[in-house]
Amino acid sequence: MAKKIAAFNWKLNPGTVEEFNTLHKQLKRLAKKYDSVEVVFAPPLPFIGYKHNKDGDQLVRSSQMISKEFAGAHTGEVSAAMIKSVGCVYSIIGHSERRKRYDYSQMEMRNKVTAAIFHKVKPIICFGEDVRDKKGMYIDTLEEQLVDALGGLTPTEIKKVVLAYEPIWAIGSGAKRPINEKELFSTIILIRNILSRNFGEDIAMKMPIIYGGSVKAHNAQTLANVQGVSGFLVGSASHDFEQIEPIISALSK
Ligand code: PGA
Repeated sequence: MAKKIAAFNWKLNPGTVEEFNTLHKQLKRLAKKYDSVEVVFAPPLPFIGYKHNKDGDQLVRSSQMISKEFAGAHTGEVSAAMIKSVGCVYSIIGHSERRKRYDYSQMEMRNKVTAAIFHKVKPIICFGEDVRDKKGMYIDTLEEQLVDALGGLTPTEIKKVVLAYEPIWAIGSGAKRPINEKELFSTIILIRNILSRNFGEDIAMKMPIIYGGSVKAHNAQTLANVQGVSGFLVGSASHDFEQIEPIISALSK
């Protein structure tokens, strides 16, 4: 059985290299202790190539974004080849905080995902609705986002993807409330139905779907127990020593 994924998106933290070293050391220790879980960290770009793994280290590296461009005159961008060459296994693509700031059209999403796969970086594709309307329009939003991101890929390429379901209403400091286990369970089924309709049964059943949005020490076990959840993408708790271990531990059971 595939390992569950505990992915820690550090966002714009930590502020210094000293703090990076402390956090990195802590996560490395936990990745070894809970080796039944794939522990992934996504640091800000200045730290992305720091502290390469030595033999026996289990900690897995991700970037928080990548460019769709391969090289050339694109100031401020970072390519899939660059992050691969400094040891990244994953790249988060389409996080809602970046979607809000930049234009993530269908082509932008597809090209970023294609660039990652071309360079053998596994995309963690974020998607999720802004609000849950009573009429169920949010279901169309989810389908649109999934088709936008995956539509250009072959079935073999789609199998390299991890989906991160992140309802915006449940994310970060602006969260209205955390998701509950019933909502999460029914949404995972809904997502698998959408995948089945668009990409076939095999992909729908095997696609890893991790959940992100206010995952904390206190709700990690309840959410980890939801059937079909392959792990978490953690934001604000991702650099909090008190919360990291219970979150990883919840996924190890
Ligand atoms: P949160 O963030 O855990 O702070 O809700 C999740 C995310 O933004 O990926």
